Amino acid sequence: MLRVLAGERVDPPPVWIMRQAGRYLPEYRELRTRAKDFMSFCYAPALATEAVLQPLRRFPLDAAILFSDILVIPDGLGRKVWFVEGEGPRLEPLIDVPGAWTLGEPQKAVERLAPVYETVDRLKTALPADVALIGFAGGPWTVATYMLQGEGGDKDRCRRAAYQRPADVDALLAVLVETTALHLAAQVRAGAECVQIFESWSEGLPEPLFEQVILKPTTALMKRLRELGVTAPVIGFPRGAGGALLGRYARETGVTALGVDTQTPARFARAEAPKGMPLQGNLDPQLLIVGGAALENGVRHVVESFRDGPHIFNLGHGITPQTPPEHVAALVKAIKG
Ligand code: CP3
Repeated sequence: MLRVLAGERVDPPPVWIMRQAGRYLPEYRELRTRAKDFMSFCYAPALATEAVLQPLRRFPLDAAILFSDILVIPDGLGRKVWFVEGEGPRLEPLIDVPGAWTLGEPQKAVERLAPVYETVDRLKTALPADVALIGFAGGPWTVATYMLQGEGGDKDRCRRAAYQRPADVDALLAVLVETTALHLAAQVRAGAECVQIFESWSEGLPEPLFEQVILKPTTALMKRLRELGVTAPVIGFPRGAGGALLGRYARETGVTALGVDTQTPARFARAEAPKGMPLQGNLDPQLLIVGGAALENGVRHVVESFRDGPHIFNLGHGITPQTPPEHVAALVKAIKG
């Protein structure tokens, strides 16, 4: 994985799966009952470490991803986060707050996130040397969308907020850039060997807004990370950024590697990204539910289509809870033989 991130083409490609720790594993569901809620689970280093190791005991994956969530950042900033069972995350929406928004202190936020870095530290010794450890954070806009509307779902209200209150949204993004840079730097200091930025809500933005809420903050984040002395490779995953905007993200932000979503053809991403940029992706997660010959054909297509340059095999979006674990075993076998 790290060789590919350094620009080498490796055959067969290294493989990991976005959201590889999680509810499709019965042992995860059992472990999860030991914490009173999901955020407490994220802040319990022993439980979080165990969640990271679970998929690796079953499958010969080449990388492990820290167990945490993109919403620990708003939580650290003092905007309370909770999860409604079967529905998803909830926060107090900023959109409903008239007047100036009171935002937390980045430095204090990361101090509160110390248990996350302790998890990374534990993983450094718990993981085999040939398994790369990936740290992560949400992209500034993706985290902002949850903070703005207080939940996932429809992003139209967030776009309207960006048009109606551009200065407030810029201030929010600036706090998120600084907090995220400190958060990723702390993960790398604790032992993460590379990091991924999940910009999961990059879709549906016209170019001027994409510049304001994605390109500018991500470029600032990359600059700040390098200033903080972080030399580790960074995978940017702007899910849903289509056409010309995906190319601008790859060329302008300073990310090391590009995560490619399900709907983007490999040859398009190759043509848009700087020459030699490692690409990660992009099997349809639905194929992992279906399994069998459809899965094997899908895997073959992905491997072939990315073959002309450095490639990390992954899904085009996170694994879903309905996925039978045996299908993940079949996927890894189809790649590695
Ligand atoms: O293996 C891993 O990747 C584990 C670490 C991880 C989690 N969330 C654990 C988690 C990562 C990298 C994430 C990223 C994340 N979280 C994103 C970006 C990736 C993407 O899929 O787009 C987003 C948007 C979130 C916010 C979030 N957290 C959502 C929308 C949900 C699902 C809510 C639900 O109930 O369906 C979560 C909860 C969450 N994060 C779970 C896990 C394993 C499931 C909750 C549980 O176990 O109770």
